[in-house]
Amino acid sequence: HRDLTGIAQLERHEILFLLAEAEQWVEFNRRADKHCDALSGQTIINAFFENSTRTLLSFEIAGKRLGADVVNMHAAQSSVKKGETLIDTAVTLNAMRADAIVIRHGSSGAVDLIASKVDCPVLNAGDGQHEHPTQALLDALALRHALEARGEGSEDFTGLTVTICGDILHSRVARSNILCLQALGASVRLCAPPALMPAGVEAMGAATFADFDAALDGADVAMMLRLQTERMSGQFIPSAREYHHLYGLTRARLDRCAPDALVMHPGPMNRGVEIDSDVADMLDRSIITRQVEMGVAVRMACLDVLTRRGRAVPGWND
Ligand code: CP
Repeated sequence: HRDLTGIAQLERHEILFLLAEAEQWVEFNRRADKHCDALSGQTIINAFFENSTRTLLSFEIAGKRLGADVVNMHAAQSSVKKGETLIDTAVTLNAMRADAIVIRHGSSGAVDLIASKVDCPVLNAGDGQHEHPTQALLDALALRHALEARGEGSEDFTGLTVTICGDILHSRVARSNILCLQALGASVRLCAPPALMPAGVEAMGAATFADFDAALDGADVAMMLRLQTERMSGQFIPSAREYHHLYGLTRARLDRCAPDALVMHPGPMNRGVEIDSDVADMLDRSIITRQVEMGVAVRMACLDVLTRRGRAVPGWND
């Protein structure tokens, strides 16, 4: 079997393959009857050691719509609170003969560790500051749909400039998106307060900015990220007012981008801090709810592809 621990482990053609697979589920999810038996008889465990609304719910909905038996393990109510180690937890989940395990964990690399201890595919639902691969895939699908709706659709994002602004240092979403967007041909600009920009990130091929206005100049997409104060220790944390002044996406700032530039945010949003409500709610420019919609389709595609046994999957290296 194969795991989905990061975009870094995917070839470009595999990213395109997963997006193509997700397209059928976008249509499926718009039907009145949203149930099939593709994963009938399979058990999926969602093991979440960190809070989540979108990722947990969409993985649960995805598994159920595919006909799988889906079980959620919340760390707060689990024996992790009694001191059980991550490896013992992994061995325990494995003994229950899950067919796929979806994991969110606060430590970078925790998902790889669990993947090395279990017999079934493991899907990374966000590990520390490392990766959040299904978020990057759903962002790519949402962006593709938005461009298609304007008659600018193409398979990849060649020629597109995406500015990712926020707490880049702590953001697994940023990391996975840098890898995914660049694999699909986009130019990526990163913007953060200097203390929240990871050292050496330019080596990933992205341009870095401390000045938000400069980072937005002519960009086709503004992807806003929240300040992950729960991961900060020792860094200077700007006040919400100060941060908004320097890095908040306002209507006036959006005008620095290309005409009709799109606005994205993975959620959860802090309105009035990194993004103003009148920008987040712009019907013609903001694709934030489309991102959520695509999340279910992308997670259906990933669960379906990773749990296929004995069935050749063209476009996917097994
Ligand atoms: N975008 C994202 O991962 O949201 P949740 O933390 O709510 O899952």
